[in-house]
Amino acid sequence: MILNTVLQKRSVRRLLYISGVIAILLLLWPLPYTQTTVRKGPESSRDHLQAIKNETLGVQKIFAINLPSRLDKRDNLVLGSSISDFHIDWIDGVNPEELNPKSFPYNWNRDHKPTEYAARRAHMNGMQRIVSERLGSAIIMEDDVDWDVTIKTQLQSFALAVRALQGADQKATASPYGDDWDILWLGHCGVQCQTDVPFFLSPHDPSVLPPHHFLPYWRDPPPIEIPSHTRLACTISDAVCSIVYAVSYRGAQKILSALSVNPGDLAQKIDIGAQFDVSLGRMCGNGYLQCFAAFPSLTGGYHAAGPSSKASDIHDENEDIHPASSHGVMYSTMLNINRILSGDNTVVANWEDAAIPTVNPANISMVGGAMHMLGGEEEGMYTLAAVNP
Ligand SMILES: *[C@@H]1O[C@H](CO)[C@@H](O)[C@H](O)[C@H]1NC(C)=O
Ligand SMILES: *[C@@H]1O[C@H](CO)[C@@H](O)[C@H](O)[C@H]1NC(C)=O
Repeated sequence: MILNTVLQKRSVRRLLYISGVIAILLLLWPLPYTQTTVRKGPESSRDHLQAIKNETLGVQKIFAINLPSRLDKRDNLVLGSSISDFHIDWIDGVNPEELNPKSFPYNWNRDHKPTEYAARRAHMNGMQRIVSERLGSAIIMEDDVDWDVTIKTQLQSFALAVRALQGADQKATASPYGDDWDILWLGHCGVQCQTDVPFFLSPHDPSVLPPHHFLPYWRDPPPIEIPSHTRLACTISDAVCSIVYAVSYRGAQKILSALSVNPGDLAQKIDIGAQFDVSLGRMCGNGYLQCFAAFPSLTGGYHAAGPSSKASDIHDENEDIHPASSHGVMYSTMLNINRILSGDNTVVANWEDAAIPTVNPANISMVGGAMHMLGGEEEGMYTLAAVNP
């Protein structure tokens, strides 16, 4: 009898012990990032990516910053966006003379040009608009941008990548780009990737330029070996040139606070009294904002034919005449406009040495890829998970 009870007690204890061990194993397994798995998004997440093909590229509004006096640039964007089937709203560019000197934040570095402050102010008006209209997210672009004719497909591939980086690839989210970001830096002239967190490589993307066609980037290339025709998506610690970016509602609120309403602690910790893009890059690096970018840059720039001075309303350029040109994109929307309007269903690459010099954009589809992590010294990178479209 006594022996029996002891045995019973022992087996109960053993059972408890075993179930404890199982519970701990279940908690720890699967450890994130320890196994290479192939994930295929469930129907719902692919439906989410479908929204990127809509009139606002999967965010709630697209704004372009444009000086009302530069109607020529507004023509470019109105026609280009109609060709690519998305809709642009306008944020008027700001002339320095219009600004009340009292409106400058106390920490603005007055060594910079008045036109640079005016440009920053125009971006801030964008943040104000997003917050005021309660937009879940918006894309802001500058008016000298050019984009690839496959922009919608490119953005879907990029969304697949940043969703994986946010751990959202299997989940339903409010934004097709995932819900855990402040800035998606789509068009830039240099980025710095965080190398201690996973990054994503999307191979077989025909819209990726070979490095010899990159314009000079103002930051070193990411210390990651990127194969040809492959685009990198990473969490960034810095970037320059705010040519095109998406910002979330929370991101716009935080930027409005940091650069205008109450720079407070942040202004003490990092110098944010700089041009808009430089301050934005610092806020990404400081961890104040969660920022992702594509490398190489997804979008590029367009210069209409004429003197170089036509190009920028911020910097002085010379009066040398040049033909229309595009940089930073493989299949330029601006340079293919006449071809598309003539009813041709193919577009030409910006460069003759492109892998596919002439293509029907309908033949280019979304690409998947894989999430990787850099190993320790000289270990290269290892793969965490492959994600198919
Ligand atoms: C496009 O999709 C996004 C995300 O679902 C949505 O917020 C936005 O309102 C849509 N835009 C249009 C014009 O339907
Ligand atoms: C598009 O794809 C079809 C079949 O997939 C192919 O026959 C055609 O040559 C392609 N066209 C271009 C211009 O890439």
